[in-house]
Amino acid sequence: MVEYMREMSYPDSRISEIAKTLKQRIVDTGNNPDVMRSVELSALFDELKTLPNTEKAAFGKQLNMLRQDLISQIKALKDSEEALPPIDVTAPFDVNIKPSEMPTLLPAEHGSRHPINTEFEKILDIFYRMGFSVMESREIDDDFNMFEALNFPEGHPARDDYDTFVTVQKDKKGRPLIAPAHTSTMQNRALKSLKNNLAKGEPIALVIPGRVFRNEDIDARHEHTFYQLEGIYVDKNVNVGNLIATVQTFLQEYYAKQLDFRIQPSYFPFTEPSFEFTMSCPFCDKKGCNICSHSGWIELLGCGMIHPNVLKAAGIDPNVYTGFAWGGGIERLIMMKNNIEHVKHFESGKLEFLRQFK
Ligand code: DAH
Repeated sequence: MVEYMREMSYPDSRISEIAKTLKQRIVDTGNNPDVMRSVELSALFDELKTLPNTEKAAFGKQLNMLRQDLISQIKALKDSEEALPPIDVTAPFDVNIKPSEMPTLLPAEHGSRHPINTEFEKILDIFYRMGFSVMESREIDDDFNMFEALNFPEGHPARDDYDTFVTVQKDKKGRPLIAPAHTSTMQNRALKSLKNNLAKGEPIALVIPGRVFRNEDIDARHEHTFYQLEGIYVDKNVNVGNLIATVQTFLQEYYAKQLDFRIQPSYFPFTEPSFEFTMSCPFCDKKGCNICSHSGWIELLGCGMIHPNVLKAAGIDPNVYTGFAWGGGIERLIMMKNNIEHVKHFESGKLEFLRQFK
């Protein structure tokens, strides 16, 4: 604190004395600006009025100096209180040394990969072997991609099926931005960016992993934040049989066993026809267990033939090309594979859970 008490010299010893007292008071009272209205200071100004003209000028000059001195000390102290302590950004070791000689800041043996990462790698690898490439989804999007381009015009009742989280910030049309509730939010972008494939006589074959968000009531199978995998395939003469074969092949490869499948009609604005894909429980082979709620079957994903309006919105002629798409949660697949009883573990960050996947 002493450093703020810059010494000014006052020829008048009383002014000098009062200057010291008031400066100390500024420090002692935590920078209280009332010092400027203190009795000591007023008394000095009162005294000025009573002085003979010959002394007034010199005394007045010193009083003004004192006022300035106090004001600048109050300001300096205030600035120093507001300034945050500096952070040392120098690396704790020489960045030029060989990697092998660098100190291990976080020993690798204390960490493990998250099961979602590990499983996604396996899943994407299967699709890669089936000829699909990968495009990542995003964690914030707009109304156009989340709904409009997917054939949910404004006011469409099916929008209510997606209880979305939105931002205060608005898009160009004054609508809030959206934390995507499904990876289908990528369909329009993906189709547009790959439609040149079609001109070259190649299909669009893409899988899109992504984190999605819904204002869900949480239970053993539902989380507000989870992962989905979207798939898109477009070419000439694509049909529902291709869709079913693709999803079946993936699932049997992932669970490394023969499974039974059921396809039920469903509704999504962006597919026509739309289906719900159900598979026999890989755990109990339809005998019934707690994984499949004793039904023997597990509802897995939504899928269908891409709606002509969705193709059109991406500039693809639906009279020439057809395609299929699917989208489904990834946690459920992983839960069934590893006998995980509650979806909450994935986002919990709990080490007891994560260490089991080392
Ligand atoms: N996006 C849908 C959902 O999360 C799932 C879905 C259904 C994706 C049909 C698709 C599809 O690509 O064709 O509820």
